[in-house]
Amino acid sequence: MSNSFKTFLKHTAKDFHNQSVNPPIVRASTIIFKSMQDIRKTQDKAKKNPTGGHFDYGRQGTSTTHILQQILSKLEESYYTFLTPTGFGSVFLAIFSVTRPGDEIIVADPVYSPTRLLSQDFLKEFNIKTIFYDPHNLKTLEKRITKKTKLIFVENPGSNTFDFQDLGKIISIAKKNKILTAIDNTWGTPYFFKPIKLGFDMSIVSATKYYSGHSDVMGGSLAVNKKVFSKVKAAERITGLRLGPDDAYLITRGLRTLDVRLDRHRENAKKVAKFLSKFKNIKLLYPYKKDSYNFRMWKKYYSGASGLMGLRIKAKSEKSVIKFVNNLKLFGHGYSWGGFESLALHQNIREQGNRSYLKLAKNEHLVRLHIGLEDPSDLIADIKQSLKHLK
Ligand SMILES: Cc1ncc(COP(=O)(O)O)c(C=O)c1O
Repeated sequence: MSNSFKTFLKHTAKDFHNQSVNPPIVRASTIIFKSMQDIRKTQDKAKKNPTGGHFDYGRQGTSTTHILQQILSKLEESYYTFLTPTGFGSVFLAIFSVTRPGDEIIVADPVYSPTRLLSQDFLKEFNIKTIFYDPHNLKTLEKRITKKTKLIFVENPGSNTFDFQDLGKIISIAKKNKILTAIDNTWGTPYFFKPIKLGFDMSIVSATKYYSGHSDVMGGSLAVNKKVFSKVKAAERITGLRLGPDDAYLITRGLRTLDVRLDRHRENAKKVAKFLSKFKNIKLLYPYKKDSYNFRMWKKYYSGASGLMGLRIKAKSEKSVIKFVNNLKLFGHGYSWGGFESLALHQNIREQGNRSYLKLAKNEHLVRLHIGLEDPSDLIADIKQSLKHLK
């Protein structure tokens, strides 16, 4: 009998040795051995089996991080999964692993704004050129490929505007031109969409969000296929970008309920989306309305949708939009998302990123809502009472 992933998440990583349901937190800088021979044996094993969890120093990990890596590799259906101290650390590791001075990368226009700043400003200083493509017009990607292009970096859906792309087409363009691919899959997580299975070389998730699920941990994961494993491993070693055992423990604990929470985020978000879809002054940035390109692209690749959505609001006064956000009683105002609670943010220009392909009219404003695990009828009532402030 082979159990489903939901069952696996509940039963994996029990510790019968310590008789605890969850594995212990093993903290170590020095990993202690009985003899020099034992050290050498472990080093030989690590050489022969670099994914096997044979460590001789705490920076490489301990059993606590190794357990989380194994769970995530199963979820991602990946060859291996690296862990970093933040989600952004995984974005950096993916790009740094496969690019060198003189290379070019092609990046989706609506990426998370720190990812944009990393590629357009920081990499430029190292003579790595970035070109941004329009997520809904892949000709802007294909046409810009040169012999120097090393990587296509996708984020799906795009941050703040939630643009869904034709991911299969991106993979086929990349394969035809022998270019590596990476995707930031934090929104859907591999619970709803598995990038490595589709053909991406690298798949990033900010574990800060749905994996941990309780807004009190930071971490990132970078799942890879066999083709890029050694390159990423070498970069990981040289940067020292590794997650500590305490955070790994909390993320492993959060993962136990990933499916339950995401299913509920999806149900709640769908109810809120249904309510919001009635308003003429609000364009819902969420896969809800069946007649849109975004919906079709979401449906093609995803088995579900998470709790993060955008609203493109038409209002003469920006102040009234901020008032709408401020007057929400059940939505906290703060960064990040993916925890159990609802959040609301007005997106200013900096947060939107300096986009090449997004043209907002003067009377258009972006708001981001994270739909949490509260009773959805309370959330809808709260939004309803605050909408009256829009002018
Ligand atoms: C889509 C996306 N990717 C990556 C990150 C970065 O993750 P972290 O905050 O864990 O560094 C974020 C954070 O908000 C994000 O929204």
